[in-house]
This record gives sequence, C-alpha cells and structure tokens, in this order.
Amino acid sequence: MQKLIINGGRRLRGELSLQGSKNSALPIMAASLLCRGECTLHNCPKLTDVYSAARILNCVGCRCNFSGNTAVIDSSVISETVISESLMREMRSSIIFMGAMLGSTGECSVSVPGGCELGPRPIDMHLAALRKMGVDIRDGGGRIVCRTQSGSARGARISLSFPSVGATENIILCAVTAEGETVINNAAREPEICDLCGFLRACGADISGDGESRIVVKGKKRLHGCEYRIMPDRIAGATYLSMTAATRGEIILTNACVAEMEPFLSVLEQTGCSIYTRDDRIYLRSGSRLKAVRDRIRTMPHPGFPTDAQAVLMAALITAEGTSVFEENIFNCRYRHTDALVKMGADIQVLGKAAIIKGVPSLSGAAVEATDLRGGAAMAAAALSAEGMSEISRISHIDRGYEKIEEAVRKLGGDIVRI
Ligand code: UD1
Repeated sequence: MQKLIINGGRRLRGELSLQGSKNSALPIMAASLLCRGECTLHNCPKLTDVYSAARILNCVGCRCNFSGNTAVIDSSVISETVISESLMREMRSSIIFMGAMLGSTGECSVSVPGGCELGPRPIDMHLAALRKMGVDIRDGGGRIVCRTQSGSARGARISLSFPSVGATENIILCAVTAEGETVINNAAREPEICDLCGFLRACGADISGDGESRIVVKGKKRLHGCEYRIMPDRIAGATYLSMTAATRGEIILTNACVAEMEPFLSVLEQTGCSIYTRDDRIYLRSGSRLKAVRDRIRTMPHPGFPTDAQAVLMAALITAEGTSVFEENIFNCRYRHTDALVKMGADIQVLGKAAIIKGVPSLSGAAVEATDLRGGAAMAAAALSAEGMSEISRISHIDRGYEKIEEAVRKLGGDIVRI
C-alpha cells in the first residue's frame, strides 16, 4: 500500500498544465461503444478509474490502447454484453456502461453498484428512465439484466426529479441510437454532460440543449468514430488552486476551463486571493492569511458550487481568519475527511448537512488515511500547509482522480514523495 509523505510549510509556486477531466473521460469512453469504429481521445487522464473503464471495454470485446494521454478505442466488434461484478465494482461510475451497452447492442447485464464512501448511491432514476424508453429491466440478486424488444430503445419524454449527472448521461447514451426523440427535462447541466454531447455529436449524434435543463436527443441508426479532445478537469483545477491558496502561494494554471470553473472561482476569490483569468489560464496569488468566506457555501448542481470541490476548499479555509460554513446538499456522507483535518489541528464541527470551520492560525502534520477521492486530496492540501511531516495512506482513493499528484505538487515546489 503506497503512501504520500508531505513536509508542509512550503508555498506552492509555479505553472501547471491541468489534466483532462476524469468525469468526462469515463462517460466518453463508455460512449465509444456506440460508434462501432475507431475513436481517438486526446487529453485522456492517466488514472486508475480510466484504466478500469478500459478493462470494461476490453471485456465486451473492444480494443483500447493508450499512448501517453491519447486513448484509441476500437469498438467495431462487441462480443459480450455481460459485465462481471468484479469489473463493475472497480468503480462506481461503471453504471454508465448500462446506457452505452443498451444504445450499442440493445441489451446488457451489469451489477447493482453498492454504496460507496459518499453514502448510498441509488440508481432509481436511471432505471425508471430506461424503463420509460421501453427497456425491460430485471433487477434481482445484485444483477440488472436489460433488454430492448427490437434491439433498440424508443424515445420518451423524461422528467428527472433531481438533475442527476449519471442518470442524464445514461439516458443520453441510450437515446442517441433509440427510435424517435427523447426529451430530458430537469437534466443535469454539468460541463461534463456538454463534453459527452460534444463527443457524441462528433460521432454523428443529434443532440441539442445540453448545458440547459431540457435536452433533446433525436435517435440515429448509426454513429461513426471520431477524434476528440477531452475537456480539462475543473475539480483537479479547484484542487491545485486550493492547495496554492492554503500554502499562501502563487500559481498559473494552464489548459484550464475558466468559464466552467467560475462557480468555484467566485467563492475562492472571497478568501482574499487575487485571481485573474485569460483564455485558458488562471492566475492565483494568495498573499497573506486567507479570509473566511462570509456566505454559506452551499453545494448545488452546476452552475452551483460543486460538491466535488467542497473538501479541497475546506482544506484551505481551516487556516483562514474567521468562520466559514459549508452546506453539503448533494451527498449524505461527504464530511468523512473532517476527522483527519481535525487531527491536524483544524476546528471543524459537523452538524447534519453543515460543517462549521473556525479558522486556526496553523496546522501540524499528522498520519491520516484518505477516506475518499476528494477527501484524500483535501488531506494533501492541509498537509502542504501544515508545520512538519504528514503521512497519507490509502492513496488509491486519490489515484482514482489525480494524475501523478506528487509530480504536479513537486513541480510547484511542494515537498512530497510517494513511498
Ligand atoms: C457525478 C460525478 C461526481 C459528482 C456528482 C455530483 C462522475 C463520474 N461522478 O456522480 O463526481 O460528485 O456527479 O456532481 O461524473 N441519486 C439518486 N438516484 C439516482 C441517481 C442519483 O437518488 O438514480 C442521488 C445520489 O445519491 C446523489 C445525488 O442524486 O445524492 C447526485 O447524484 P448524481 O448527480 O447522479 O451523481 P453521480 O452521477 O453519481
């Protein structure tokens, strides 16, 4: 089991090119199943979750080769429609293969994703929507067996009770080759949904309205392969900016998606950091001690403050002057990282959905365990700003979403090694 050893107290300073987005790469890799040809994906992040998605593609008969940050996926032959439980369990977002397999072959057998570090992860909205599209779904003994009557689903009018990212993606993936038109009301508006739709359009799909609450998909018989560049990772961006703010440093983030990061940047700016943006670059300077954020930071679906950035911003705010309050509205168990931050000296009180952060002057290094992907990154951010040495274990959580985090931080002058 690998660990990160961090000697805190150094200001991060320098330039960093942002990795490609994990949350775009995964559904786009699944979507390549619909093309029945070759897709070349540039800016694909090298992450354990991406390799898990590649293993699923291999298991159903596709070839997937990586060369640096380019993935080439050949889905001309799909020989299998059953995805084993062990592969499904490797990452929770494997459920996205359900819509893609249905769109591609008209059937699939997958397993029910269990709960995860963030709490129960129901898929009731995914299943209800697919049923509305004429998919026969048998759900029992941990398996979900899906079949369409004539080999493809049919368009439907679907209203989601909550703008779920995964449900919106699964519906789109099933709808692009369905018979007729699908309308999704109260669709998720996350930038990664637009990236998935951009990819599908490049493959010949007819989709409009992505980025808004009403998405319309007109089914097409066939899609073709394409070459596509995956968008930058706005959450990795939020993480490196938070780490820099936490260490009172200075950074130029390049290859960034500035507009998509606006909901995060506008909150970060309230801490007193100077932030300038130009084209795909974000410059941040954090001179003296940060200020607490005065307004409650409520996590909301996009374009609200992203739940995935809650933990990393918290890591910066624990040494800010004054009290900040988070309100987590997306996931039930998303404060599991707070115990580790408290162990480092933070003053955090969790009361239901709220976390109250009273700024302390300094933190001290500690041995902690990553609890989940973003929580683990928050521990790394806190450790970088703490006095002395920290040891973070269970970093397989962190490797799911950050491409060589230690190299990125070292490039900025941080003292971090992986052992
Ligand atoms: C995606 C992101 C994740 C991010 C989340 C919210 C990927 C791979 N993951 O996860 O990083 O934190 O969006 O921005 O893109 N829900 C139900 N029933 C359903 C579906 C969802 O109750 O059928 C609930 C979930 O339990 C959760 C909330 O809706 O409380 C949001 O989930 P959702 O938007 O679906 O998130 P994911 O797609 O799982």
